[in-house]
Amino acid sequence: MRVHVADHPLITHKLTVLRDKSTPAPVFRALTEELVTLLAYEATRNVRTEPVEIETPVTMTTGVAISTPRPLVVPILRAGLGMLEGMVKLLPTAEVGFLGMLRNEETLEPATYAERLPEDLSDRQCFVLDPMLATGGSLGAAIDFLFARGAIDVTAICLLAAPEGIAALEKATEGRDVTIVLGALDERLDENGYIVPGLGDAGDRLYGLV
Ligand code: PRP
Ligand code: URA
Repeated sequence: MRVHVADHPLITHKLTVLRDKSTPAPVFRALTEELVTLLAYEATRNVRTEPVEIETPVTMTTGVAISTPRPLVVPILRAGLGMLEGMVKLLPTAEVGFLGMLRNEETLEPATYAERLPEDLSDRQCFVLDPMLATGGSLGAAIDFLFARGAIDVTAICLLAAPEGIAALEKATEGRDVTIVLGALDERLDENGYIVPGLGDAGDRLYGLV
C-alpha cells in the first residue's frame, strides 16, 4: 500500500479552517470540495490514458484520452458525498457508484447499508472518497468490496487519517494495488475512535446531526 500525504500550504491552510469548530456547514462543504479537487490532482497521477489523434488549427498531433473502461468514483455515504463534486470536476468522464456505510459508535465496526455499484469491476480503476480514515474499518471494507468485484487498483482520497487506521489498512490490503492520498496524517485516535486533533464528525459537520 502506498500512502501519499499532501504537502502544500494551500491544503494545510484549507484544512486548518475545516478543523476549526466555529466553521459553519456551508463553508465546511465548500472547503471539502476544494480540498478534494487539490488532492485529486495527486490521486489521478496514474489514471490510465490512451493515445488519440487530434487536429489542431495548425496540424495533426497525438494527445491522450482517459481510457475505457472509465474510472469509477465511489463516495462512501454520508460524508464521502461531500467530496464527490470536487472529484468529478477533475475527472468528468468518470462513472460514479455508491456505498453507504455506518460505523457503530460502540464497537467501531462498519456496517454496509447501501450499495449501488456495477456487478463487474474487472479492469476498473477505482477512486474511493471518504474524508475520515480513523480505525480504517470502513475504508478497509469498501476496498474489500471493490476487489471482490474485480477492481484492479484502488486509490482512496481522505482528508485526514490516524496512524492506527493506516497500520490496520496496511495489513488488510497486503498484496493489493492500493494507494491512499491524504490531506494530513494526524496524531492518534482518542478513546472514542475519533481522530485527534481531527475535525470532529465529518458527516455531522457537512449535513447536520441525524
Ligand atoms: C465516518 C467517516 C468514515 C468512518 C471512519 O462515517 O466518514 O466513513 O466514520 O471511521 P473508521 O475508519 O473507524 O471506520 P460514519 O460511520 O460516521 O458515517 P457518516 O458518514 O454517515 O457520518
Ligand atoms: N469519523 C469521523 O467523522 N470523524 C472521526 O474523527 C472519526 C470517524
